[in-house]
Amino acid sequence: MDYINKILQGDTIQKMQELPEKSFDFCFADPPYFMQIEEGKKLFRVEGTEFDGCDDDWDKFASMDAYKEFTRKWLFEVRRLLKDNGAICVISGMQSIYEIGSILRELGYWVINDIIWKKSNPTPNFGGTRLNNSHETLIWAAKSKKSKFTFNYKTGKYLNGGKQMGSIWEFPVCSGNERLKDENDNKLHNTQKPEALLYRIIALFTAKDDLVLDPFGGTMTTGAVAKKMGRNYTMIERDETYIKYGQKRLDGVIPEISDVELATFDIKPLKVSMKEMVKAGYFRIGEKFFNKQGESAVLADDSGKLTYNGETKSMHEVAALMMGQSRRVNAFDFLMVERDGCRVSINDVREDYRRHCMSTLEKEV
Ligand SMILES: C[S@@+](CC[C@H](N)C(=O)[O-])C[C@H]1O[C@@H](n2cnc3c(N)ncnc32)[C@H](O)[C@@H]1O
Repeated sequence: MDYINKILQGDTIQKMQELPEKSFDFCFADPPYFMQIEEGKKLFRVEGTEFDGCDDDWDKFASMDAYKEFTRKWLFEVRRLLKDNGAICVISGMQSIYEIGSILRELGYWVINDIIWKKSNPTPNFGGTRLNNSHETLIWAAKSKKSKFTFNYKTGKYLNGGKQMGSIWEFPVCSGNERLKDENDNKLHNTQKPEALLYRIIALFTAKDDLVLDPFGGTMTTGAVAKKMGRNYTMIERDETYIKYGQKRLDGVIPEISDVELATFDIKPLKVSMKEMVKAGYFRIGEKFFNKQGESAVLADDSGKLTYNGETKSMHEVAALMMGQSRRVNAFDFLMVERDGCRVSINDVREDYRRHCMSTLEKEV
């Protein structure tokens, strides 16, 4: 079946059963929440206008047991479709997130984090009868405890202004131009998710060219953001109208790839050894390694050992001695060598060598 960068129409469980196992890197799922809005009950805003909540047929189940049965089935299929290092992010509200979390664990998923999406413009509690429900919860879980799931930690830090990304994310609910409208200018879908939320999820939990599954496509927000960020997608949705508008939305997306999409900040530096650097002439046996105060040790061999005060030890131990520290320190953070009459950090010399290796590799490719 042709399923990459496609919307598959039909029942999600049936469609997933037709897909090959271990073919997806990541799944974002925004399933029915089972809101249990009483039949015929209308909600009114304070000024008297009717509030259009989610009372769609696709959100209705005969009982919580029926909802749990459905949840177990689709989560089972997603797990079959995920690669061994794959992961899922499921969103729901207090109506069903506890049941979803419990089923995830029963099926063998490994919960990594839960994330609070704090809505900066939540719907008020019109009757003033309980707390204003101003957040939804996402559960981020790996296929299993052994999965080496993708987490672009440094990309998260970059997106959070240099601070470690936390688990409370604040975004407004989807509104304005982003909200899809039908031909009568009415909102197309009651639960369209904001692109900003998907952007963060995809930036942090996937890599460029990954294949992302969304078993509850709706207006195709996941596919639209995935395409924009250089990922592939498979969207499943039953409703013809949502598919019609969603396909149009997907067709209009132009990929925009920058450092965030490439997760440049998270690319691990090339591993290089002192032996290679000595061989390539970047360091010389017998040369002096200085600390900031001008004290020096001598490079003893190509394993990177230094001789200091008559003793030969690893460069990190010697750096600690030279810094007067009892614990091991990273010599690359502290020591310098002389190049063209100036002292330069040994880390800069190592970076030069890495750049040299990368350019050689690129030429070979
Ligand atoms: C919560 S909405 C997803 C909204 C979507 N994230 C967006 O941003 O537009 C859930 C969607 O799943 C679809 N759906 C529900 N049950 C389904 C099923 N068994 N098979 C296929 N689609 C289903 C509904 O039609 C609805 O559009």
